Amino acid sequence: MAKSAKPKSSSLSRKPDDVHQFWEDQAQAHGGSDLATAPDHHYRTLEISRIVQAISGMPNDTILDVGCGNGYTTLEIAKAFPASEVIGVDYSPKMIEEANKQVIPNVEFFDGDVLSLSRHKEIGVQKFDVVVSTRCLINLPNWDEQKVAILEMRKMLKPDGRLILVENVQEGLDNLNSVRATFGLDPISVRWHNRYLSQVEVGKFMEEIKGHLLTVEYVENIGNSYYLASRVLYAAICKEQGVEPEYDNPINKFAAKLPTMGEFYACSPNFMFILKNEAGNAQPRS
Ligand SMILES: C[S@@+](CC[C@H](N)C(=O)[O-])C[C@H]1O[C@@H](n2cnc3c(N)ncnc32)[C@H](O)[C@@H]1O
Repeated sequence: MAKSAKPKSSSLSRKPDDVHQFWEDQAQAHGGSDLATAPDHHYRTLEISRIVQAISGMPNDTILDVGCGNGYTTLEIAKAFPASEVIGVDYSPKMIEEANKQVIPNVEFFDGDVLSLSRHKEIGVQKFDVVVSTRCLINLPNWDEQKVAILEMRKMLKPDGRLILVENVQEGLDNLNSVRATFGLDPISVRWHNRYLSQVEVGKFMEEIKGHLLTVEYVENIGNSYYLASRVLYAAICKEQGVEPEYDNPINKFAAKLPTMGEFYACSPNFMFILKNEAGNAQPRS
């Protein structure tokens, strides 16, 4: 198993404006398709089912999806919880334009930056039972901004609300790559516009804020079985046959139905962290 490594900023020259433009271009190129924000449809189906299951076990009258892109996941959540009031927010106006083309009665979409979420003019603070965010933090350039974003999302929660973060974690990718190496497969690298979270940094921060800001209730390495099937076995078969892997292949389709094997074998980069707001306690615990 690979040891934890500091997340690599895949491009030292990446600029926030370039990342923003990248998402504008993705919306332009893919419209309302799920391909605008993630290329692997079968993984996405699995991820949404895990999010929906998590939300079904908590109060969910009001749900905010931060970094919602073109609203693909937001709309699935809204359909799963038709009695809930669901809001999606993203800093790419073109993504929000696409999201607004879908009309579902219990959803609204707004432009907005996660780094100034609590100052958004139309979305109130402390209004949400659930704030969910999938792969938004990894678009921020460093851990300091990622932490600011987590705390901004917390401000949107009701006193006993839950923050569900579904994010890519460097150690999960490192572990996956070490399994791939045993099959002679090249490592999967982090894309230029992403900075994966570090499990070590997240763990340390969660330890600092537990009991007075946010407390970790649950952690899951989403799709570890899926990634072994898709990114290792299927990838190895493709390599042997001299063909390029395709996301829409039968192994991915069926692997998306495999159960996740728990956190202890984190060979997928995709983690779900469920954090409970601790609004009542103003002072840090000693
Ligand atoms: C990988 S996509 C994920 C979209 C969506 N959550 C999903 O799973 O389909 C990342 C999204 O985060 C948005 N984003 C990146 N930085 C942001 C920021 N500072 N504030 C709000 N949204 C941001 C991008 O515009 C993009 O739509």
